[in-house]
Amino acid sequence: MRIGTPLSPSAIKVMLLGSGELGKEVVIALQRLGVETIAVDRYANAPGQQVAHRAHVIDMTDAKALRALVEKERPHLIVPEIEAIATDELLRIEADGLATVIPTARAAHITMNRERIRRLAAEELKLPTSPYAFCSSLEELQAATTRIGFPCFVKPVMSSSGKGQSKLKSADDVGKAWDKALTAGRVKEARVIVEGEIKFDFEITQLTVRAVDGSHFCEPVGHVQIDGDYVESWQPQAMTPAALEKARDMAGKITAALGGHGIFGVELFVKGDDVWFSEVSPRPHDTGLVTLVSQYQSEFALHARAILGLPVSTELKSPGASAVIYGGMDANGIAFDGIDEALRVPQSELRLFGKPESYVKRRMGVALARGDDTNEARGRAKTAAAFVKPVKT
Ligand SMILES: Nc1ncnc2c1ncn2[C@@H]1O[C@H](COP(=O)(O)OP(=O)(O)OP(=O)(O)O)[C@@H](O)[C@H]1O
Ligand SMILES: [Mg+2]
Repeated sequence: MRIGTPLSPSAIKVMLLGSGELGKEVVIALQRLGVETIAVDRYANAPGQQVAHRAHVIDMTDAKALRALVEKERPHLIVPEIEAIATDELLRIEADGLATVIPTARAAHITMNRERIRRLAAEELKLPTSPYAFCSSLEELQAATTRIGFPCFVKPVMSSSGKGQSKLKSADDVGKAWDKALTAGRVKEARVIVEGEIKFDFEITQLTVRAVDGSHFCEPVGHVQIDGDYVESWQPQAMTPAALEKARDMAGKITAALGGHGIFGVELFVKGDDVWFSEVSPRPHDTGLVTLVSQYQSEFALHARAILGLPVSTELKSPGASAVIYGGMDANGIAFDGIDEALRVPQSELRLFGKPESYVKRRMGVALARGDDTNEARGRAKTAAAFVKPVKT
């Protein structure tokens, strides 16, 4: 693929489907390589739209609207940034030769549904996972939780970022979990996965980039999740050699099965030498924001390079960490105090995403820091994040 000049007939055009903070960084990485970028989201002035050549606001789950936009823009590459997309239409767009979907339309289609990706990982590829069952009614869920035991997790098959998810301690929690899954699922489909709890020592994201010359693995990213949402991440996470080998083997297998070029975030649970597959994003991963300071080529730069068929390096630059900055309030056009203090923290950086609307638990920014080791980096990132105070204007 020969890179031309944006906004001219020689341009390579890339359309982002979803333009949040991860899409914004992908757009910036593409802009640096002289690629023409088109940022799509369901609301105006999304972070990625603020740095792209053009922006469009559509309902990306609407197959007709998606098709019409792709026919109008004729991008060479379509880069999904979120799961909630009409992936059936992506399959048709790819089959019709309209555009290349990153990494593949099939990967986007499989990973948007917990049932499809779990069956691929556990039943076809035989990767170790938590015990699981799929249920389409409260009665089925009651039976499955009794079989799997407590504690267990119930998740809508179509949801992300912990939405509609419950951790169940006993049979008393089943009814509530079913109701929550039904109201919060992305599609009004009454189907959930129930998973037995894995009592892991820690969890990691194994960032894996599939490039023209094969698969490359980043150092493992450790992270802390609260209510299914990441609050802190760091790189590298120390692991035993045996666990690291398993992690890379599993990441290699699942990403090969999904195919195509680009970065993948493979979520794994680790206990001693044992590793379990949890899920995978065929796109940059939120916990991988840390790579903006810890790697020479961030996960966003790696994605941009890989999808353009360019060489990649996953080399670590320094131990690093990220800490999330929440909005802390429901308001439009908020401001941020304490930036000066935050940036006085040694080796720290901030990313403020520019989201037009703040919610109490909406991720509005992230503090990043390097250190001599991950502990020092984590301390710095958390300190910097704590200085940043969202305020009403
Ligand atoms: N079976 C399990 N055993 C132990 N912990 C689990 C299990 N399932 C989920 N969790 C915990 O909940 C977190 C979120 O789960 P999961 O990744 O499946 O949800 P999600 O909605 O896809 O979240 P995200 O989109 O942020 O990745 C996990 O990172 C882990 O901390
Ligand atoms: Mg997850």
